[in-house]
Amino acid sequence: MTTTHESGSIAFANRTASVLEGLESGGQLKHLQTIDGPMGPSIEIRGRGTVDCFCSNNYLGLANHPEVVEAGLKGLEQFGAGTASVRFICGTFEAHDRLESTIADFLGVEASYTFVSCWTASEAIFGTLCEPGDIIISDELNHACIIDGMRLAAVIKKGLLKSVYRHSDMGHLREVLEAARSNPDMTGIPWVVTDGVFSMEGDLGKLDELRAICDEYGAMLVVDDSHGTGVMGETGRGTHEHFGLKGSQVDFFTGTLGKALGGGAGGYIAGSRAGIEMIIQRGRPTLFSNALPTTVACSANKAIELLDKNPDLVQKLRDNVAYARKGIREIGFEVIESPTAICPIIVGDTAKAIAMSNELLDMGVFVIGFGFPVVPEGTARLRVQISAAHEQEHLDRLIAALAELKKKHG
Ligand SMILES: Cc1ncc(COP(=O)(O)O)c(C=O)c1O
Repeated sequence: MTTTHESGSIAFANRTASVLEGLESGGQLKHLQTIDGPMGPSIEIRGRGTVDCFCSNNYLGLANHPEVVEAGLKGLEQFGAGTASVRFICGTFEAHDRLESTIADFLGVEASYTFVSCWTASEAIFGTLCEPGDIIISDELNHACIIDGMRLAAVIKKGLLKSVYRHSDMGHLREVLEAARSNPDMTGIPWVVTDGVFSMEGDLGKLDELRAICDEYGAMLVVDDSHGTGVMGETGRGTHEHFGLKGSQVDFFTGTLGKALGGGAGGYIAGSRAGIEMIIQRGRPTLFSNALPTTVACSANKAIELLDKNPDLVQKLRDNVAYARKGIREIGFEVIESPTAICPIIVGDTAKAIAMSNELLDMGVFVIGFGFPVVPEGTARLRVQISAAHEQEHLDRLIAALAELKKKHG
């Protein structure tokens, strides 16, 4: 007779094998590519050689900038590997304080607090700042970290309500806010949360309209600008700058250091000093999880300094985006209209998106195909991402490879 433990392992092995075999036979199994060397406009993929990279969030090309790398090395030398502690015990270095001031100044808000990822920041913000009787209202296409952060918050704070509005549909948001007003269980504060740049569509949250609606309904506005910071607005402050808003007109930002701002890892919450103090005092990820490694903190700090001093980086990215979007359209692909660096080409079926992505890789162009469950079934896409590090030759090779694909698939 098998023991209970063995039965459990056998059941688990069978269940897992069936899921993985299903993915394999449906052409949906993801294969991770190993990169030998730093991130850049062209990269070395093991077993493939040099390819042009159009699927990194390295929007400003800072991930391998010599000063960013040097700052990380210095951080490692000065502070060692890490804090070996959560921050309120003995885990806050000067590098964390410095980075948090830099982020707050850059965004134009009072304070910020860093985490090992934006995912963790999203787990912290709602569960800490929202209370029973509040309602969190989310755009239906918000990033998974917002969705899971809200779900977790509703478990931690029983009586915290949540709702969803149709993507960027301001009329529907008003309806949800009206319904909340007349809901007797809604006794607290409404919170509206949106991505600044939607990661799969590459379109913008309508922050100007959202601010006006939030003011009308006495709601807090939270913006995850992970794909907008360093990319949008004249000086790369983010999507609020694109819409002519001050940082202080967004109640709280969440964001990542793992994309334009150095590309290592890390996330943050930024906003009012009182709100950040609440995160420090009460946030569960704050109280029970280690700090961002200082090497990453120092690299990110340098990346923001470089961006602050070189707004021409943002202009180069904008020019590259305009060139690539025009080229992709001219060969007959439809790309969702927007000024962001995310250019999604919808192909429908997940297996087709993965197959097309493999064909592009065979042509030396690295673009990932996204399908279910990352995007809704039937809306699989090739997501092309543009960087300020790309030169025209990279963009031309991308467009030529897509033209080949178009010829073959129609
Ligand atoms: C909109 C958005 N928010 C948050 C994240 C997560 O960021 P991090 O990698 O820092 O957890 C991502 C990453 O894909 C994202 O696209």
